[in-house]
Amino acid sequence: MTLDELRTAIEELERDLRERLEAVDGDAALEALRVDFLGRKGRVARLFKNLGQLDTSLRREAGRLLNALKETATEAVSQKEAEARRGRLEERLAAERIDMSLPGVHTSFGHLHPLTVVQREIESIFMKMGFSVASGPEIETEYYNFDALNIPVEHPARADWDTFYIDETTLLRPHTSPVQIRVMEQTEPPVRVICPGRCYRRDTQDATHSPVFHQIELLWVEEGLSLANLKYVLELFTQEFFGEGYTMLFSGDYFPFTEPSVQVHIKAPDADDWLEIMGAGMVDPAVLEAVGYDTETYTGFAFGLGIERMAMLKYGIEDIRVFLTNDLRFIRQF
Ligand code: PHE
Repeated sequence: MTLDELRTAIEELERDLRERLEAVDGDAALEALRVDFLGRKGRVARLFKNLGQLDTSLRREAGRLLNALKETATEAVSQKEAEARRGRLEERLAAERIDMSLPGVHTSFGHLHPLTVVQREIESIFMKMGFSVASGPEIETEYYNFDALNIPVEHPARADWDTFYIDETTLLRPHTSPVQIRVMEQTEPPVRVICPGRCYRRDTQDATHSPVFHQIELLWVEEGLSLANLKYVLELFTQEFFGEGYTMLFSGDYFPFTEPSVQVHIKAPDADDWLEIMGAGMVDPAVLEAVGYDTETYTGFAFGLGIERMAMLKYGIEDIRVFLTNDLRFIRQF
């Protein structure tokens, strides 16, 4: 073979390679093409075999030409391979593309129940006045629910609070007052506490009664407290909770655990009617004595209010049942 013949062969190979690279389709075809030209027994390798037949003086130049061919061919094939890789990547990216212009899926996070909102609001008003929050069991013993609150077995007032008995001596509590006994047993005076929680009564459900409801009990025991202090605390509370301009009225009432006992009424600035908001009174000395407090030194007052009632008055809700039916059209308004 002459050098010219070799040059022609090289040119022909290069042209072939270019044409086939141009037309090649798919990874397998490209790999086959690579083996065909650059494999151990491929067309480039076969041209190298001709070196041996060439005149020694020409081998140097022929070697240079063949090496250059090998280099360009390798370069051309790997360029094509890189192109194919890029193509595949682009295809994948296009397939996995996320359409950011679609509107998102709206999730609603929910919020606190109106009764919880009102309970927390009342708690925070009294916490600012220096009261702490205590809680007690909803299944209560007769002792805490009645006896310790100065309601002995034969007392007719028991009937008012006789509710759902679990067994002979335990019942679902009808009020949060037993918590004040539990707190006083654990604490030396002064005591300044509020006790929120769920209560149960033998009431038939109607617009203003519910066998399950919530109360907040307040208890303050310290030296020198009188009804005047109670009235002041309630005035502060009313102002914070309902707003300015309310007037307050105490009327006489009866609770076995307070003496004297009062019913507290308030009237909105532009209203004609008085609204009952809670029962209250000076803690009966018998109650303080039962927990070992020195009744010569200490006096105290307490009240119990219904959380549902507070919420109904504040938001103008007319039926207590809406708190329990979980109708979202109601709940979502808070
Ligand atoms: N425990 C009483 C009730 O449930 C309310 C109350 C509490 C009255 C504290 C006076 C003092 O009706």
